[in-house]
Amino acid sequence: MTHKPTVDDRFSFGLWTIGYSGIDTFGSPTRAPMDVVHVVEKLAEIGAYGLSFHDDDLFAFGSSDSVRRGQIDRLKQALADTGLIVPMVTTNLFSAPVFKDGGFTSNDRSVRRFAIRKVLRQLELGVELGAKTFVMWGGREGAEYDSAKNVRAALERYREAVDFLGDYVLSQGWDIRFAIEPKPNEPRGDILLPTVGHALAFINSLAHPELVGLNPEVGHEQMAGLNYAAGVAQALYHDKLFHIDLNGQRGIKFDQDLVFGHGDLHNAFALVDLLENGGPNGGPAYVGPRHFDYKPSRTEDESGVWESAAANMSNYMMLQERVKAFRADPEVQSALRSAKVFEIEESTLSPGETVDDLKSDRSLWEDFDSQAFFDGNGFGFVRLQQLATEHLLGEW
Ligand code: GCO
Ligand code: MN
Ligand code: MN
Repeated sequence: MTHKPTVDDRFSFGLWTIGYSGIDTFGSPTRAPMDVVHVVEKLAEIGAYGLSFHDDDLFAFGSSDSVRRGQIDRLKQALADTGLIVPMVTTNLFSAPVFKDGGFTSNDRSVRRFAIRKVLRQLELGVELGAKTFVMWGGREGAEYDSAKNVRAALERYREAVDFLGDYVLSQGWDIRFAIEPKPNEPRGDILLPTVGHALAFINSLAHPELVGLNPEVGHEQMAGLNYAAGVAQALYHDKLFHIDLNGQRGIKFDQDLVFGHGDLHNAFALVDLLENGGPNGGPAYVGPRHFDYKPSRTEDESGVWESAAANMSNYMMLQERVKAFRADPEVQSALRSAKVFEIEESTLSPGETVDDLKSDRSLWEDFDSQAFFDGNGFGFVRLQQLATEHLLGEW
């Protein structure tokens, strides 16, 4: 491994990622299940700082209270022994048959009520373990057939559930926030809140929007043909980047969950640049967990699982170095200036300027040379992108 992380790098992994057995729609598992204590020990060994999990990852759906508690205690002991923490938890509202039409938005009211109970239980466990973020990924909240789902009513039920849970968090004074994870499709034909933009609009309809943010995933935006780094930038703009799911995806197809950096590498470069250098004074724009939600390919045995886990962190760290060098390079700074990248930070109107002021300023209209932009006034964006490419390829 090229780069060995420490806890200060804040890398975390889902228990379901490392624990993925290789099962898919066409094939059975290719690896044995992994015990949580082993996962925690190995993650600590390779330099991660956190573990996240769904309730059903730790204790099977329908487990008795004593089995559940036994598993929680084993996890707690492993955390105490290694120093690993649980920055985020989430609920599985998608695997069990009862959720075949969703949890919060199932057409069946009794399922919706059952789903809220299941989330409450996992929320309480998250608080017990000190988690600061509660992710909501509604993979089954959706439909295959337009006639089967009243989308407006389903969104209202979604809102009802999130508001109810938010009220509970506030009444308890808990230090935990919700992060909605958008995804366009898979497992449902169409999923509600399919992109960052849809989810942002939904959050604005909530009773306590300040309690709810986003957990955008690389592959999910890219499955919709969208620019992930740009989506994350908008989430940051609205102060809604509460958590992040890093992985790799190659184009518009099924959710590949590749290692971070094994998909669209240019966009990964832009993302790391944004997260690390995109703050108001050039510092980090995001300080939360660098969370990997990937699947070790089913072609790998257990050694390949750990190899791929390390690759996620190593790729992130290599990109961290590359983007730092990119920003520090005087040629890049001059290319940024000539591309007017800094000029967009300047407000378009001067303080107090009125419509009349604009109308009387001849330089804005009558004397403005818009023809100069024909075969002139090029922005030089390609040069900038080539410099980014050279840095990415280690040419500096
Ligand atoms: C997926 C999702 C999930 C969620 C997880 C946490 O496409 O399967 O990315 O892995 O992130 O359920 O809520
Ligand atoms: Mn995913
Ligand atoms: Mn995810």
